Amino acid sequence: MKEKLIYQQDFINMSRQDLINQLSKRLSKRRFDHVMGVEKKAIELAKLYEVDIEKSSIVALMHDYAKEIDSEAMFTLAKEFWPDDRLADATEGIWHGFAAAQILKTDLACRDEEVIQAVAAHTTGWHQMTKLAKILYIADYTEEGRDFKGVNKVRKLSEVDLDKACLLKMRMTVKNLMKKQEYLFPLQIEVYNTWIKNYKANKVI
Ligand SMILES: [Fe+2]
Ligand SMILES: [Fe+2]
Repeated sequence: MKEKLIYQQDFINMSRQDLINQLSKRLSKRRFDHVMGVEKKAIELAKLYEVDIEKSSIVALMHDYAKEIDSEAMFTLAKEFWPDDRLADATEGIWHGFAAAQILKTDLACRDEEVIQAVAAHTTGWHQMTKLAKILYIADYTEEGRDFKGVNKVRKLSEVDLDKACLLKMRMTVKNLMKKQEYLFPLQIEVYNTWIKNYKANKVI
């Protein structure tokens, strides 16, 4: 970021710089770089779609906050946030979003439901996502460090149609999980079904 972003609102009990310092301690270099890339992309999209810049920065910096904690602790936090027995069948790929949302609520004293929901939903998507949640969902997938087949298609689409980009990501993610013979968390499928139903009915998502 060229100009230094300083949080002016009280969404969390930490400054942006303190949050970045925490991330550098908690995450590997590779994941830290990914998170900073997600913040950059999220802010770009926030400017394009007129979403709060500070909220976009917070959700981006927080989304993988719990990704490298011990698996048992991650599961416990995830279950506190999302008490669904089926979580036990899922993996860290699903748990870490809910766990980060729980940390946001507790350790960072966040009371902004939109921020909490966006972080929680970044792994599974959600039936009705706010623009903030959509921005994080896409920024996580398309930040500049991402390089996989189809990434440019999602990148380009997100500049003109955020909803279609989200739906494309959902489809690609489900396909990829199936290809790798991985468990599909039911919420992920339910969310995909909601989006595809809305898309077919030409409803605004
Ligand atoms: Fe993540
Ligand atoms: Fe991520």
